[in-house]
Amino acid sequence: MPQPDDNADLGARVDAAVTAALAAIEAATTTAELQAAKAAHNGQGSALAALNGSLRDIAPEDRKAAGQVIGAGRGRVAEAIAARQGELAAAEEAAQLEAERVDVTALPRLRTAGGRHPLTMLVDEMSDVFVGMGWEVAEGPELEHEWYNFDALNVDPDHPARGESDTFYVAPMDRHMVLRTQTSPVQARSMLSRELPLYIVSPGRVYRTDDIDATHLPVFTQIEGLAVDKGITMAHLRGTLEHLARTMFGEEAKIRLRPNYFPFTEPSAEMDVWHPGARGGARWIEWGGCGMVNPNVLRAAGIDPDVYTGFAFGMGIERTLQFRYQLDDMRDMIEGDVRFTEQFGMVI
Ligand code: PHE
Repeated sequence: MPQPDDNADLGARVDAAVTAALAAIEAATTTAELQAAKAAHNGQGSALAALNGSLRDIAPEDRKAAGQVIGAGRGRVAEAIAARQGELAAAEEAAQLEAERVDVTALPRLRTAGGRHPLTMLVDEMSDVFVGMGWEVAEGPELEHEWYNFDALNVDPDHPARGESDTFYVAPMDRHMVLRTQTSPVQARSMLSRELPLYIVSPGRVYRTDDIDATHLPVFTQIEGLAVDKGITMAHLRGTLEHLARTMFGEEAKIRLRPNYFPFTEPSAEMDVWHPGARGGARWIEWGGCGMVNPNVLRAAGIDPDVYTGFAFGMGIERTLQFRYQLDDMRDMIEGDVRFTEQFGMVI
């Protein structure tokens, strides 16, 4: 029980309680810690609350003065809590803003899923030229019967191209299956399966037993064109190829035909393109083969050559890509290095 002479100590006891409270308030580094300090030093059960409670034991004449001393102490503590509360809340808000900061100028993180291969893009671009003229895209198998790859195309049984030194035969030999050496078997397949008139392009992969070097790949891509209709002439062939050349190489491009031989066309020609953007200046570049469909080929497909005529052409896609973009080495096209593909601007 406090005694009346304890009153003399009251000021010192309030000071001690206030000092302890202020130290705890100052030490609080979060609003949660501050709430704990507030409960311990100013709430029920705190030293100051106990001193306040002791007032009733003080002589009535001293009670007012004692109450003022305790009230002043509690007032200082409450003020310190309010001030600290303001500081801590501001600091916590600043920390939260910092943590939630979004750098709107940061570069997006690009995740590349891959890229379309420039050969695929070129096949699509060339096919589109023909689709735009109402032609259809036709496809055929890469593992092909010898009959479609050679016989239906008027290639003699003893033609050198049929030899194993040029053609991949697939065992067992008596099945007569080859990896197609050209897209021309799709001509035969289309003539047998589609209605006339026929306007088709057939892009696809072909195989030859060539050694790999800067200008040869044993697996490469061709695009073939075939038109069969009444009254088709070589002028139609010329015009079609010239249109293709201009679309691919610009308005100044043109084509020239030099006599050549293919078993499935007659007459046959080697086609050169005048490439205005060629390395080292505009020049003629050998681009592909073409000709009027040989009547024997029409006949093999059950088409009467006295009623229908046709033209056909074919060219290599890798070769086209190579001289269109002045690429040194075809092998870059098949190595699968995405940096090669990216140069063509297609990243997806
Ligand atoms: N198939 C021939 C080749 O691969 C190209 C060609 C196609 C020639 C169509 C004439 C007509 O060389």
